[in-house]
Amino acid sequence: MEIKRAAVIGAGIMGHGIAEVMAVSGIEVQIADAYEEALSRAKTSIETSLSRMQKSGKLKEEPQAILSRIRFTGSLEEAVKEADLVVEAVPEIEKVKQDVIQRAFRASGKDTIIASNTSNILITTLGKGISDPSRLAGFHFFNPPVVMKLVEVIRSEATSDETAETLMNLARRMGKTPILVKKDTPGFVVNRINAPESLLFGLIVQEKLAPPEAVDAFAKSQGLPMGPYELMDYVGIDTMAHSLEYYSEALSPEYGKCHIFHDMMKENRLGAKTGKGFYSWKDGKAQIPKAEPSSVIDLMDVLSVEINEAVRLLEQNVATPSDIETGVKLGMNRPFGPISVAESLTNAEIKNKLLKLSEKFHTDIFKPADSIVSGKLKDAISGKISGKVTEQKEKMDTVSASPEADPVKLDLRDADFTAVLTIENTRNNLLSLEVLNSLEKHLLSLWNRRETRVIIIRGKGNNLSAGAQLNQFFSSTMDFAENSRRGERIFRLLSEIPKITIAEMKGYTLGGGFELSIWCDLRVITPDCTFGFPEVTLGLIPGWGGSQRLRKLLGVSRAMQIILTGERLDGKLAMETGLAWKMFPADQIEAETDKMARDLAVKVAPISAAIAKRLINKGSDVSEDSGLEMEAMSMGLLYGTEDIKEGITAFLQKRKPEYRGR
Ligand SMILES: NC(=O)c1ccc[n+]([C@@H]2O[C@H](COP(=O)([O-])OP(=O)(O)OC[C@H]3O[C@@H](n4cnc5c(N)ncnc54)[C@H](O)[C@@H]3O)[C@@H](O)[C@H]2O)c1
Repeated sequence: MEIKRAAVIGAGIMGHGIAEVMAVSGIEVQIADAYEEALSRAKTSIETSLSRMQKSGKLKEEPQAILSRIRFTGSLEEAVKEADLVVEAVPEIEKVKQDVIQRAFRASGKDTIIASNTSNILITTLGKGISDPSRLAGFHFFNPPVVMKLVEVIRSEATSDETAETLMNLARRMGKTPILVKKDTPGFVVNRINAPESLLFGLIVQEKLAPPEAVDAFAKSQGLPMGPYELMDYVGIDTMAHSLEYYSEALSPEYGKCHIFHDMMKENRLGAKTGKGFYSWKDGKAQIPKAEPSSVIDLMDVLSVEINEAVRLLEQNVATPSDIETGVKLGMNRPFGPISVAESLTNAEIKNKLLKLSEKFHTDIFKPADSIVSGKLKDAISGKISGKVTEQKEKMDTVSASPEADPVKLDLRDADFTAVLTIENTRNNLLSLEVLNSLEKHLLSLWNRRETRVIIIRGKGNNLSAGAQLNQFFSSTMDFAENSRRGERIFRLLSEIPKITIAEMKGYTLGGGFELSIWCDLRVITPDCTFGFPEVTLGLIPGWGGSQRLRKLLGVSRAMQIILTGERLDGKLAMETGLAWKMFPADQIEAETDKMARDLAVKVAPISAAIAKRLINKGSDVSEDSGLEMEAMSMGLLYGTEDIKEGITAFLQKRKPEYRGR
């Protein structure tokens, strides 16, 4: 359905902005408000805004032409009579909105779509008592509507496909980016993800854990333009209080634990609008006392809380992961959303953070969502469990937790006889205990696979790995030693597995990441790769076999230089010393390594490769005489294989061999 005529009820901050955007995109709009002065304020604001837009070249028409499409009226009934769409933007009070919506239904046509710009209230609740709820939906703009790109289109249980589609198309026509909220839930997507954050900041001050200015100083030190308390003062403390009150009724009574916003309301400390909130306000500016950044929370606390709420929304099938990501980015004006942040963190990291927060603030709101408890964060953020958790909740409560999502991904490429193991843990692919365990599991699973002859070790993104996730390994002397032993044994699998292993050294390949590389049989590198062993500069030593393995590969002199200086080295040096086999530009290394792995997998007889690498690795541990004996015995072993016959026959017949690993 095409919207040609619309009505906006409520000419306040949101209503006049929504009407303006509609008129700019060619729609005839009538704005109705119960107060005459609200209408004249709206008219002035729209005129000012249009002339500003014209000056910056954002209008295709003269402001007057756009203004001629807008009519102002004191009568709701008059405004909606001819409208294809009615958008209500009256105050966030359930009863007021219900009354306006019912009147709009009665006074408009039988096909008119009625939409609410509510920030939090369930559309299903707002539609109580109306004749045709299939024509009611949420159409949630962000402030200011002229600037903010995001619009949430919210379906209630009864909203028809046609209603939702019409609003999605209209939002696009208005130059906005709509996201579909598939299921009615308090706060929808963006405000809902914000809700536990507001609770967190409210509780910090309520429990006197830190003064607002110290937390705001911390937020600014992290690059945010405005701290959370300054922002809450700007939005309005009454708005914060009403939202949390609504969430305490509609979502969880735990939201009621935060009473500071109500306390402030009683003192008329509503923020910027009354000149006093968390801060005093003068000439539109918060007077923030100087303070040292607080350490009461860190960025990960806030991000974990956001991710947790996003996961809950995914579990309830409220929106897709990409709509949640888009919603938070555009709705909160940020370069990233919770889904992309969660992709770079492990399940365990987020779970631990949330458990600590829920203990510290004595609230279940911060407890990890079901999918995080059961180690399925990565499934949740890739949309694999949408809607299933609610159905399976009962089952899950009785079933023991499943393993953590894999921080090392295995990609079997059987058609090429290759496999790729990709480390995906944090931006720098830090080597955590989970990464080591996952690596071990995959290597053991590949050990006897005939279909895998060459294994590539790769890092997701720009780095192979910047090293060990050190904070995980510090506990006691004995644990520290055992963790070192465990890492050595797991990395050694790379040199013992009867397959060719190739490490792809790129970006940061430091410490444990470099050790991982030197346990492989072959290394490829980018010219700008930064590799080395910084351990001695941290009071450590390379503890996953680095001191022994590097000496074997490059000799005592080079190993001394690299380990004792802690120097950061580059691709050129790796090529000069023979440490790396080939060098490729960063944007080509994956494709080139894949190609070389494919070539080796068919060119090299698999049993020959397995025995040759073992002879080279073990030969240097024994006397020359014993090494030569091992070599001779190995030749005898190869004599009995099918592949030796195939190799020699193919050579004589001048064709490519087809090895079978037998
Ligand atoms: N302000 C924001 O940042 C923001 C952002 C997104 C959504 N919202 C939502 O938009 C809605 C409007 O918020 P706002 O900030 O524009 O509020 P506002 O107070 O600025 O405007 C509300 C307008 O509605 C008028 N009004 C009240 N009762 C009416 C009635 N019965 N009939 C006609 N007009 C009536 C008032 O006179 C006022 O002009 C709320 O639901 C709010 O939650 C607000």
